[in-house]
Parts: sequence; C-alpha cells; structure tokens
Amino acid sequence: MCMSPVVKWAGGKRQIIDKIKAAMPEQFNNYYEPFVGGGAVLFELAPKNAVINDVNQELLSIYKCLQDRELFDLMVEELNKHETNHSEEYYYEVREWDRCPRFELEPIWKRAARAIYLNKACFNGLYRVNAKGYFNVPSAKKEKVKTYDLENLEEIFKYFSNENVQILSGDFIEACRTARAGDFVYFDPPYDVPEDKGSFTAYSKFDFNKEDQIRLANCFKKLSEKGVKCMLSNHNTPFINELYEGFNIQVITARRNINSKADGRGAVEEVIITNY
Ligand SMILES: C[S@@+](CC[C@H](N)C(=O)[O-])C[C@H]1O[C@@H](n2cnc3c(N)ncnc32)[C@H](O)[C@@H]1O
Repeated sequence: MCMSPVVKWAGGKRQIIDKIKAAMPEQFNNYYEPFVGGGAVLFELAPKNAVINDVNQELLSIYKCLQDRELFDLMVEELNKHETNHSEEYYYEVREWDRCPRFELEPIWKRAARAIYLNKACFNGLYRVNAKGYFNVPSAKKEKVKTYDLENLEEIFKYFSNENVQILSGDFIEACRTARAGDFVYFDPPYDVPEDKGSFTAYSKFDFNKEDQIRLANCFKKLSEKGVKCMLSNHNTPFINELYEGFNIQVITARRNINSKADGRGAVEEVIITNY
C-alpha cells in the first residue's frame, strides 16, 4: 500500500520519516495519532488499528470523506468543479465562503473539497486563519491547479475502509482516552516557539500555547504510567527539555519548508522524546 498526504501541511514529517520510524517501538497494539495533520506518518505506517485525530475541522472533513464512498465521490466531483473554474477571482470567491455563518451547515464533502482546493491553490500550501477563524492565505497565482491524485485517494479510501481506522476531531486529551498498555501514541503537536523567533503555530483558531504544552506533557506522563508507549516530536527548546526531563530525548536536525517568515526556513533542531 503506497499512500501520501492529500494536503501540504505545516510540520509535515516526510523529510524526517526515517528518523521517526527508527525511533518507534518495534511492536505495539493500537496506533494513536492525536495531532495527525497531513498524515505523513500515518500513511507511511498504515497500521491496521488506528485512532487519528486533529482539532482542525476542515482537515478532518477530508479524512471523513475518504472513509465513505458516497462522500468520496461527491468530494471528487466538487474538486473537478474547482479545477475547471479555477482563476484568481474564483480562488478569492471560494476563500470567502467561510465568512458566511451558513458555511458551517454546508455538507462535509463541500467543505472538504474547498479545503483541498485552497490548500493546492494558495501561497505555499499554508493553512492560516485570522483571529475570527477565517482562512486568509493569498492565492499562489497558479494558472492551473491540480487538486488530487485519484490513485492516491483510492488507496487511502481502501485503507480507511478496510482497516480499523477511527477518525476523531477534538482535543488531543480526548483522543488518547482509550489508549491502553501496549498501545503506541505518536504526538506531533504544534511546536513550542523558541523565545527569539515568531514561528508558525496558527493551524486553527485555537492557538497552541505554553499552557497546552504543559497539558500535553501531563498527558504524556499519565499515559506512561499506564504502560502506553509514547513518542513526541517538538522543537529543541529549553522549555520542552525541562517539561520532559527524565524521558529519552534525542536531538535531530530537520529542514522546514513552511514558515510564515522566509528567514525561518532552513535547518532547525528538533527532539524526538520517548518513554521506552
Ligand atoms: C505539527 S501539525 C502535525 C503534522 C503532521 N503530523 C504531519 O506530518 O503532517 C500539528 C497539528 O495539531 C493540530 N492541533 C492543534 N491544537 C490541537 C489540539 N488541542 N488537539 C488536537 N490537535 C490539535 C493542528 O490542527 C495541526 O494539524
């Protein structure tokens, strides 16, 4: 089975996938990914029993459509419509849809197709919303936009419908509630921001701040006490090192492509933290 992410997502793990895989436990029962994002790790591993979650509803609408044949077909039809109609003007028209209060009531396949189209047509494949939660990334000014690879979508559909993959859309704490001894949780949260840098963390209208990093570290500790195998990615900051003191901390370097500031691109130090 060969699957790849459907959307480009900040913090995507494709460039460091080998390091991530090397740090995983050799054996585990159920796989949990509470901050699934673009799903690079999930699609690489394709575990038979998985619980995936993300707080971003637009992103989750895509995964839900990839698990249901009727929604899948409607989403693909809508993507074709976006490709045909694409222009600068059309991009901004579709981008404005979420300004209308009725948008939340639109069918899930329509929201999913909009999320994919905007991701492919926007500048740098960035997902960014303003304080009101409205998507506000400018157009990449592409003449033509290819929104999907049907073979890849079909592979993901096969995986999501043939295996036991549960798709949740809430806070990470809720998503880990059912994890038991012998299960494995991979946390890839929005990263801690080094003191001197304004980094990109606005994935949804819910910011991920220091308090959330502390909540997450407490969740990691509780799961560890239950015998759940845990692994976490983050920036190599003093704050993160302090929060996970006593666990195994491996420092790696990674290249980052999506950043709100051009000078934030390039090699950065990350950590892979494990409790095994
Ligand atoms: C670093 S990204 C994950 C990258 C992903 N693993 C990949 O390879 O593409 C972090 C994700 O956490 C999600 N997120 C932010 N706050 C959250 C929360 N409280 N609970 C669950 N997910 C959250 C964001 O929507 C974002 O998709």
